[in-house]
Amino acid sequence: MVRSPGASIQHVVDVGQFDRPGLERIFAAADRMRALPRQSKPLAGYTLATIFYEPSTRTRLSFETAMHRLGGNVISTENAREFSSAIKGESVEDTIRIVEGYADAIVLRHHEQGSAHRAASVSSVPILNAGDGPGEHPSQALLDLYTIRHELGRIDGLRVALVGDLRFGRTARSLARLLRLTERTELIFVSPPAVPMGSDVRAELAGAGIPFRDEPDLDAVLPHIDVIYQTRVQKERFTTPGEYEAARGQYVLDGDAMRRLKADAILLHPLPRVDEITTEVDADPRAAYFRQAHNGVFIRMALLEHVLSDGVMG
Ligand code: CP
Repeated sequence: MVRSPGASIQHVVDVGQFDRPGLERIFAAADRMRALPRQSKPLAGYTLATIFYEPSTRTRLSFETAMHRLGGNVISTENAREFSSAIKGESVEDTIRIVEGYADAIVLRHHEQGSAHRAASVSSVPILNAGDGPGEHPSQALLDLYTIRHELGRIDGLRVALVGDLRFGRTARSLARLLRLTERTELIFVSPPAVPMGSDVRAELAGAGIPFRDEPDLDAVLPHIDVIYQTRVQKERFTTPGEYEAARGQYVLDGDAMRRLKADAILLHPLPRVDEITTEVDADPRAAYFRQAHNGVFIRMALLEHVLSDGVMG
């Protein structure tokens, strides 16, 4: 976590902000949040605004739950593209300049890559990026890595397969970038040819000394990995329905696939899923995706405490 140049505001817009000690502090704070007594209200009197220009179940509701559990208040617009003044032509920058007068921090999801950085550049209150188009989803990546630590007891020395839409899937991009802070990690990209991992992420991993490779054969990968991170093909980001149809349905995790997976491996998915994990997998103890989504509350409590107070994270 870094502070904005020349200011004390701490935005969370990009996983590039984090270093290993900062990561460990967030995870330790999330552990403390898990055990926080219900009557504890460290953010009483603070207000969080959640502004979502794209749909969400997990990110918006878990940020709002996190703020409520910390004793704070929430104001929200869940379909800002239609029901905020964006429909009248108001820019993100102007919206932020208004909402910073109503709230102490702003959680923003927007369809344009770079929108969170634009918001942070004009905001006098912390901006938390809840997803900017196909760009970044930092709080998701933090909860993904936190879940790996919680499930496996470590984040180093792991072979991780990222599967599905690695081009438009912002969660996979952010997780891959965050894994640069780990040691002895090996990354395997399993994606349809139309949606490979971006060259920007590959360059960053190479610079950090994280080995990675592409592997089109998912069955060949399954017996050798510790973490499989499945993702949805992002229908809403394709230019034509034909391009989406060409990319979808190529990698499906079902009961047969789980039988190939190691006994101590885990299966993650940022959710929502469509058909890339069959429901028969849900009962498998290695299917950690619902526990993963629940961990989002603790990570987001830790982030809110951190940006809104000097708090427990120091
Ligand atoms: N994982 C995730 O971002 O889910 P939502 O779109 O429901 O927020």
